[in-house]
Amino acid sequence: MSVAENYARLRTDGEATLEVGGATYDLPIRKGTLGPDVIDINTLYQDTGCFTYDPGFTSTASCESKITFIDGDKGILLYRGYPIDQLAEHGTFLETCYLLLYGELPTFAQYKEFKERITRHTMVHEQMTRFYTGFRRDAHPMAVMVGVVGALSAFYHDSIDIHDPEQREMASVRMIAKMPTIAAMAYKYSIGQPFIYPKNELDYSANFLHMCFAVPCEDYKVNPVLARAMRRIFILHADHEQNASTSTVRLAGSSGANPFACVSAGIACLWGPAHGGANEAALTMLQEIGSVDRIPEYVERAKDKDDPFRLMGFGHRVYKNYDPRAKIMQKTCHEVLDAVGHGDDPILKVALELERIALSDEYFIEKKLYPNIDFYSGITLKALGFPTDMFTVLFAIARTVGWIAQWKEMIADPMQRIGRPRQLYTGSAERSFVPMDQRQA
Ligand code: CMC
Repeated sequence: MSVAENYARLRTDGEATLEVGGATYDLPIRKGTLGPDVIDINTLYQDTGCFTYDPGFTSTASCESKITFIDGDKGILLYRGYPIDQLAEHGTFLETCYLLLYGELPTFAQYKEFKERITRHTMVHEQMTRFYTGFRRDAHPMAVMVGVVGALSAFYHDSIDIHDPEQREMASVRMIAKMPTIAAMAYKYSIGQPFIYPKNELDYSANFLHMCFAVPCEDYKVNPVLARAMRRIFILHADHEQNASTSTVRLAGSSGANPFACVSAGIACLWGPAHGGANEAALTMLQEIGSVDRIPEYVERAKDKDDPFRLMGFGHRVYKNYDPRAKIMQKTCHEVLDAVGHGDDPILKVALELERIALSDEYFIEKKLYPNIDFYSGITLKALGFPTDMFTVLFAIARTVGWIAQWKEMIADPMQRIGRPRQLYTGSAERSFVPMDQRQA
């Protein structure tokens, strides 16, 4: 099927008319299952000689997708049509992975087979352990993750042919299976403890906690409340539509780069404080505020146009309502703090009070700034026993399945072409080279 025929298969619901330089152009309006319609500008440049300008892609649908739907105004998040709160409450993480990857919740037999396939791949090539020792021990674990995940393509040559569906599947399984192992190794390396091998009798989340917190000289029993919290955190972070890191994975993949390289690019993007790094930033901010009486001072700073300070864990590009993930995160936070005996944690008190004050403040109401998932995840992860620089790493483990599902969808999309945005050029017009001795200071 040609690209043009594929465009034709998208549902059209009327046309938008655009006037440029006195001429009018009809642009098809495409309809999805849910969410806003899109104006198809695919032929705009060819027809009018103009580009569109949309820094930050606030009004641009970069692809067609069947995986995740967000209604930011209503605070809705669906994976393949299923509400996030139902999945987080009743599903396992691997069930969610299956759903994101293959489109449907698995039957019992499908789940068993998928689980076996994943657990058979949880170990990493033994030679990879030596790769870690090349890093400084005080390296940020996200730097280690970018390097080690990128290096997977050097260890697993038999799953980098993106044109072979079986190799794509193998790369997907390997990444979902190995990511907790790689992350736990990054943590163990940073604290100077021996690597702990995966224990496949444990489920995905419990196994990860085991690899992080067990030591060879003692028995380690995973607390089921903490394992459940970890499972929820993984499910909540598993996918989030075309966010910055997912778009990075898709863009890297559009050039034909191998999946390990693409996911490594996604991890690099996720590291930024405006994206995955916000949970670390939110906890640091709550600790800096320290006590309830200092909250008004920080709220005033967040509102001050001349102060770059922002309330971390507040606001979202898409959610202009309470982030549905934040509600589940808040509940999970209470459960974990109770389980570890920190139910009266002063930082939790600051968070709850800050949320209350901000939600009743005109500035935050008017700008529709609500707590996002990162507001409570930092406190929860700290109570689970993770140091702050591991927070984004946990996000990366969970988001791996989303990146892979989106990457696979893109590869299979007959309309897929290399991503190549254009620009509004405002630099110098053409000019002639001036020899150095004739240049003015
Ligand atoms: N504190 C104070 N003011 C804020 C905040 C905040 N956290 N967030 C946005 N604003 C203000 C901002 O100053 C701007 O005001 P004005 O219109 O007067 O210039 C207005 O709200 C719109 O902000 P924006 O930066 O244009 O919005 P955006 O969609 O580009 O940014 C954001 C979204 C998440 C980057 C931003 O809200 C932010 O920096 N929040 C703090 C960081 C954070 O919590 N990030 C985690 C995002 S959720 C995790 C994920 O999905 O990756």
